[in-house]
Amino acid sequence: VKGGFGTFMEKEIHDQPKAVADTLLGRTDGQGNLVLDELRIDEAVLRSVDKIIVIACGTAAYAGHVAKYAVEHWCRIPVEVELAHEFRYRDPVVSEKTLVVAISQSGETMDTIMAVRHAREQGAKVLAVVNTHGSTIPRESDAVLYTHAGPEVAVASTKAFLAQITACYLLGLYLAQLRGNKFPDEVAGYLEELGKLPEKIQHVIDHADEVRAVAEAMKDASSVLFLGRHVGYPVALEGALKLKELAYIHAEGFAAGELKHGPIALIEEGQPVFFIVPTPRRPVLHNKVVSNIQEVRARGARTLVIAEEGDEAVNEFADVVFRVPRTPTLMMPLVTVVPLQIFACALAGAKGYDVDQPRNLAKSVTVE
Ligand code: M6R
Repeated sequence: VKGGFGTFMEKEIHDQPKAVADTLLGRTDGQGNLVLDELRIDEAVLRSVDKIIVIACGTAAYAGHVAKYAVEHWCRIPVEVELAHEFRYRDPVVSEKTLVVAISQSGETMDTIMAVRHAREQGAKVLAVVNTHGSTIPRESDAVLYTHAGPEVAVASTKAFLAQITACYLLGLYLAQLRGNKFPDEVAGYLEELGKLPEKIQHVIDHADEVRAVAEAMKDASSVLFLGRHVGYPVALEGALKLKELAYIHAEGFAAGELKHGPIALIEEGQPVFFIVPTPRRPVLHNKVVSNIQEVRARGARTLVIAEEGDEAVNEFADVVFRVPRTPTLMMPLVTVVPLQIFACALAGAKGYDVDQPRNLAKSVTVE
């Protein structure tokens, strides 16, 4: 069942190229057009959507956070991302033109189910992005876009996260195609780039020995920080969550731009800090993160940097660099999160912890 791996978590990390490929499979017409007939929401309704609210919890909410950057850029529709339990108990502004996207691996998370019901009561259309067929959330939604990650057994989510992000890209491109925000050849170009991702993810997995070695050497760390900007920000949050869940180490993710607004006070000699660095092809984003690395390094932090191949600007300020293949900015989370998953899994393993079934956690949280 574990495919020759010692744990489900390792197996599921290795399943990720397939999870992404399978989520893309069969959703184009072969001529670069997206075909998402399965959505069963009237095209006129999708054309009239004036706001999207993503509701989800935990890792699924971070997938939604990545989706916000892509969908707003491609479709020019405002996207809010909200934790399902917060959405449910306030008075959200929702109308018939609001598309609520509920993201969930299990489809059984009670907080998300309650938020779906609440959204529909307010007249919103709900589209579920779910991995588990026949679960409650798709049954209670207007439409469903399944992620095809296969069963995820380890409590900490990995392959479902990548599949959720992939499905959200498809949704964003589909809306852009439908609403005429993007020309067909532009959509085809993005789809072609997406099609290259499974191979790139595989490359990161195949070159992770150093990540594991660094993780094992850090097994006595008491706190690790994660910083990212733009789509690297939700990746930082996810890296911190994985480390908390699996290794029971205090970990926090921040938007790199927040550093000087507070978190830099935490930096002292030897404090490990991960950086998720944007591509140097986006100098505005890239240069700012490189300065952040420099700033914390000057205060004695140990800098662990995830950067694109060929990005030499980080070398001077990085104690360790983990490389990822060159990838379009909006799609970078699919490669940059992988070293962080492997890091958390290896560090927890080095501490002798059960990575498949961490203490106090359940795979699916079926109570509010
Ligand atoms: O099944 P869901 O995707 O709705 O679950 C949401 C969260 O409970 C889940 O992502 C949780 O945060 C995981 N333990 C993360 O690894």
